[in-house]
Amino acid sequence: MGEKMSFYKQVKRVTTHVLHEMKLRGEKIAMLTAYDYSLARIIDEAEIDVILVGDSASNVMAGFETTLPITLDNMIYHAASVVRAVKRALVVVDMPFGTYQGNSKEALSSAIRIMKETGAHAVKMEGGREIIESVERILSAGIPVMGHLGLTPQSIHKFGTYVVRARDEAEAQKLVEDAYLLEKTGCFAIVLEKVPAQLGAKVAKELKIPVIGIGAGAEVDGQVLVLHDMLGITQEFSPRFLRRYHNLYEEISGAVKAYIHDVRTLDFPNEKEQY
Ligand code: KIV
Repeated sequence: MGEKMSFYKQVKRVTTHVLHEMKLRGEKIAMLTAYDYSLARIIDEAEIDVILVGDSASNVMAGFETTLPITLDNMIYHAASVVRAVKRALVVVDMPFGTYQGNSKEALSSAIRIMKETGAHAVKMEGGREIIESVERILSAGIPVMGHLGLTPQSIHKFGTYVVRARDEAEAQKLVEDAYLLEKTGCFAIVLEKVPAQLGAKVAKELKIPVIGIGAGAEVDGQVLVLHDMLGITQEFSPRFLRRYHNLYEEISGAVKAYIHDVRTLDFPNEKEQY
């Protein structure tokens, strides 16, 4: 008898239902960010389950210090580029700061713009109880919502630091209540960022929807990393949860230096490289 094929291997197109099924079967969900066509194509063909067009684009694509400055138009541009590349993964788009916290009608218009103008499959929003009216309204329009709790970078000026969240009992308790609330309201999954592994495990065990961690330990239903961080394109950001799979910064820099050398020494182009 051959080995039983994993469920995710049989999936032609990842949907929110596929993610629920993966949680039920105990198969881990792999998620990465992408912001452009070329890299989205590579990671989709490598069979990543979920692509997040994260507002981390504000940092790694635009060079801002925080995720606050990126606009809805910027996110729509990135998301539409990613969607054009993707055949298999579920594409989730971050709603940028200031497009859903004000009121739920504005939140719905922002989410509708994302869905209509990009062709993405879902949106992600940071926060719990405080944004629940917006989450409800977006869900009622048939738009799937992924929650995001723990360290929520759009609130960095409230926290004042990027340290681990929910270490104390009161904050952990609020996080668990928010997670239940997001599930009850109808979110299809939750990202849990930079919280103690024990808390990550508790939330993943208690919730029926998938809990995807970034610095939330191993006992959650899946993991997400920022693509530019795990590829080693960015160098300055080194939190404990980050595993670097490559040092692309060095590789790209080496290739560029070799090219400059070849141009300056008249080695490039050679005879075969011209008409
Ligand atoms: O914007 C982003 O990249 C994110 C991940 C860190 C989860 O929200």
